[in-house]
Amino acid sequence: MKKVKIVAVVGSLRQESLNRQLALAAQELLGEKADFELLDYADLPLFNEDIEFPTPAAVSRVREQVNSADGVWFFTPEYNHFFPGVLKNLIDWLSRPISKQERKMVLAGKPAAVSGISTGTSGTLLAQHHLVALISSLNMDVMNVPRLTIPGHLQQVDEHGKLTLTSSKRYLERQATAFINFIQKRLQQHE
Ligand code: FNR
Repeated sequence: MKKVKIVAVVGSLRQESLNRQLALAAQELLGEKADFELLDYADLPLFNEDIEFPTPAAVSRVREQVNSADGVWFFTPEYNHFFPGVLKNLIDWLSRPISKQERKMVLAGKPAAVSGISTGTSGTLLAQHHLVALISSLNMDVMNVPRLTIPGHLQQVDEHGKLTLTSSKRYLERQATAFINFIQKRLQQHE
């Protein structure tokens, strides 16, 4: 079986982001089972049709990285019961055709997994709900079970703000395994 390539999209740009740490924990758990890359999209401009063509270099870079992945794993915070604006901006760029000539959209048909950690009791459930509505409408192939919601992040970090993932580690492990199987099945279907 082919080793799958997963691109992780973290919906928080801050360096110490717990969602970023969650993505790195997933990478560690996956080890050699998958190629796992974090998408670096902090330099994307705000979407504006006036600058869409010629495609800005940062947009081409993230589009190519997503296009080359077998699956996209979202790690999203919850901001005001929604997912952050930076993530919406990224998805707006990715939702557009590669060029005026080529109508291909890199998210269509791409397997997607969704996880998140937050301070509140929802554990990003509402943010995930909105995110899944959006990426489904863009025809991503969403793995709805399992999803991972980690509430009350203060119980999952040490005194230095590092994610320890006490009780949630096995759920992350379960989701990682499920996502690899989900992607492999899709790849077999397309062989
Ligand atoms: C939050 N936070 C938050 N938490 C939550 O559970 N539900 C919410 O609706 C919100 N709303 C919200 C709005 C804004 C603007 C901020 C900055 C924060 C708290 C949030 O869960 C916490 O800051 C996380 O640590 C953010 O994720 P990262 O950056 O650690 O990945």
